[in-house]
Amino acid sequence: MAPLRWFLLLSLICSILLLVNVTHSTAQDTRKAYVVYMGDKPKNGVPILPDLHVNMLQDVVDSSNIDIAHEALLLHSYKRSFNGFAAMLTEQEAQKMTRMDGVVSIFPSKQRSVKTTKSWNFLGFPETVKRSALERDIIIGVMDSGIWPESDSFSDAGFGPPPKKWKGKCQGNGNLTCNNKIIGAQYYRASRSFEADVESPRDSNGHGTHTASTAAGNTVTKASLNGLGLGKARGGVPSARIAVYKVCWSSTPACEDADVLAAFDDAIADGVDILSISVGGSIPVDYLNDAFAIGSFHATRNGILVSMAAGNEGPGAKTVTNFAPWQLSVAATTINRQFITRVQLGNSKIYEGLLPNIYDLRGKFYPLIYGGDAPNKKAGANGTLSGFCLQDTLEEDLIKDKIVLCDGPVDGAGGGAILGGAAGIVLMGQKVADEVLGPLPVPASYVGLEEHSDIYKYIKLTRNATATIWKSEEINDVLAPYVPSYSSRGPNPINPNILKPDLAAPGTYILAAYPPSGGGSRAGYYLETGTSMACPHATAIAAYVKSFHPKWSPAAIQSALITTAKSMSAKTSSDAEFAYGAGLINPSRAPYPGLVYDLDEQDYIDFLCSQGYNGKLLKAITKDKTSCSSKSNNGTTNDLNYPSFALSIKDPKYVNGVFHRTVTNVGSLNSTYRVKVVAPLGLKINVNPNVLSFTSLGQKKSFVVTIKGPIEKSNLVSASLMWDDGVFQVRSPIVVYVAV
Ligand SMILES: *[C@@H]1O[C@H](CO)[C@@H](O)[C@H](O)[C@H]1NC(C)=O
Ligand SMILES: *[C@@H]1O[C@H](CO)[C@@H](O)[C@H](O)[C@H]1NC(C)=O
Ligand SMILES: *[C@@H]1O[C@H](CO)[C@@H](O)[C@H](O)[C@H]1NC(C)=O
Ligand SMILES: *[C@@H]1O[C@H](CO)[C@@H](O)[C@H](O)[C@H]1NC(C)=O
Ligand SMILES: *[C@@H]1O[C@H](CO)[C@@H](O)[C@H](O)[C@H]1NC(C)=O
Repeated sequence: MAPLRWFLLLSLICSILLLVNVTHSTAQDTRKAYVVYMGDKPKNGVPILPDLHVNMLQDVVDSSNIDIAHEALLLHSYKRSFNGFAAMLTEQEAQKMTRMDGVVSIFPSKQRSVKTTKSWNFLGFPETVKRSALERDIIIGVMDSGIWPESDSFSDAGFGPPPKKWKGKCQGNGNLTCNNKIIGAQYYRASRSFEADVESPRDSNGHGTHTASTAAGNTVTKASLNGLGLGKARGGVPSARIAVYKVCWSSTPACEDADVLAAFDDAIADGVDILSISVGGSIPVDYLNDAFAIGSFHATRNGILVSMAAGNEGPGAKTVTNFAPWQLSVAATTINRQFITRVQLGNSKIYEGLLPNIYDLRGKFYPLIYGGDAPNKKAGANGTLSGFCLQDTLEEDLIKDKIVLCDGPVDGAGGGAILGGAAGIVLMGQKVADEVLGPLPVPASYVGLEEHSDIYKYIKLTRNATATIWKSEEINDVLAPYVPSYSSRGPNPINPNILKPDLAAPGTYILAAYPPSGGGSRAGYYLETGTSMACPHATAIAAYVKSFHPKWSPAAIQSALITTAKSMSAKTSSDAEFAYGAGLINPSRAPYPGLVYDLDEQDYIDFLCSQGYNGKLLKAITKDKTSCSSKSNNGTTNDLNYPSFALSIKDPKYVNGVFHRTVTNVGSLNSTYRVKVVAPLGLKINVNPNVLSFTSLGQKKSFVVTIKGPIEKSNLVSASLMWDDGVFQVRSPIVVYVAV
């Protein structure tokens, strides 16, 4: 399964089906699912009254208008970690509700989409790396499509009982049993239709099983996908526990805000340490109308770092999702493993293509035909259309049991040949493995323009053209890592001066656990591609850091991951930091950052103040004596104590930015750090003071960074700032760019 394409297609279907699903009455007062967000739960342990949410519904929904009980309109009640609910409302009712006491925001429950293991070795994180005994007490919450618990990756052999702090449950519904590895599993489905899926946390599409095993799967030897990617599959923190929150479904709609918030509500109260969420929306919205921003805000307040996929909407600018400063936003890179797939013609010429091909034709030759020569005329297709081998465009009798050459690259190319019973397909695309193509359910290769044109000529000049496709071979990709085009790019669509994505991790062709029959493979391991696969790598390393430093705040862990990342260069991506943030995650160094840029609740509140949220609203969100502190009224996000720097400017001639930062010593007792600035000609970066001396752990020191131009006319200029005491190097990327 090529998850990206598949989910794109699915989301198209969803948006149509959703309207059908939620329509309970006439067109003028159509009900849809809305989320009503009411901030934190009351302080001092005051419980939320059981009937509060139903009563609020009664106040706005005129019962003479509906023939069902108010309770039936209530989809979820959020009470354990914050206050709010999801309900079926008309637009007028939603309007009325905005004016009610305690309501912070109301927004329609939006559709979301989900977005080895050699990758760890590639990152310099061998199996034998030093481990903390506390790793077994770390609980990773995975919000995804559920799990396939019978996989070897989730065996609990050698695991003791769940950590005492665990308060979650196993809602197996007779279809799934938890163990001491998967210590909890729950499912959330407001729209209550389970067709094409099963009413349980069991994973019926593979995505959740894959991501969970990448983060915390056991070490399993001889894992492969039909022999491809053969090796040890392992999660980054194989001793950690997994808590499953199934919010994404194979039936439509795939994932919904109402369910996502219900899962956050439970996960926070259940006692997870880290949340891994390879799901995202694509439309930037206000933080208070974004279920992920709200949920992860409360998670962060409760000491839980939320690691999220940056999105698969690249390579355009501002396509990054999940970009709130309290979320870790993870971009994807390639790893050094590339799959090449040779196509051999009847004239014995051999062409090298890409794409993992798991099938072995054993050198058998099949008739070769060009899709453009087999249009399904009855269905109104001509040769131009059928050349792409799109669904319903091919005359099946002509292509059955043949290898079909297809044009491209377009979405859905080759699909018609697969459905029509072709013996194999040869697709056209870029010669760089930059495209998102998973293994296909027939032998397939993906050749470049020149190769494609040669094969086409061979077909045209040969009476009985034939070909075979060889099983893939793994080669070492010396260009790796680079950021493939699918990975979403910055700049941050809402906060131009907060750099997103934060960092990058392996996401292309990652081998991890899979349900037995998933994606046409019985192997139990599968190669998947996307930022969805990058996210659990970062989740695991966040857990790894936490196992050494259980008291660190989410922001401190986030800072450690960012400042220890390996710098990447603009050569590997024209959009530089907007593609990879601070660079490639560096697991073995992440627990030892030396200094951290920490953030506490007040910092995030000040950040929200700078965004124009007023004191009253903030009190409603936090339920405590929150107010904007004096320093936060400067109307700038520059002073959020973030471990990276972004400066958006209007005119390259006038560059002038001031950033205040404070670092906390977590390295050596006595240490003296000197600053090292790397900047291109013209950009003047001044750091004051430029030496920081520490005499104790936990000690904080502040400094001011001033950035002045001009810069050359350019969209983006990369620089960096590094504190170095000879032992620790604390590096922050700096980006100056012209906002467009
Ligand atoms: C789970 O439910 C599905 C669908 O009803 C069924 O096909 C499957 O056998 C069940 N699995 C287990 C382990 O009960
Ligand atoms: C083939 O069909 C498409 C879509 O109907 C049309 O746009 C195109 O012009 C046709 N091409 C030829 C060569 O007739
Ligand atoms: C081409 O195929 C046809 C039908 O299968 C066969 O009769 C013919 O001998 C073949 N020609 C060549 C040159 O192989
Ligand atoms: C905010 O602005 C005030 C007034 O200009 C200034 O004194 C203060 O230092 C600024 N705060 C920060 C954190 O930059
Ligand atoms: C740290 O420095 C202080 C004074 O600068 C000194 O008294 C102390 O012994 C030093 N501690 C260590 C562990 O080096």
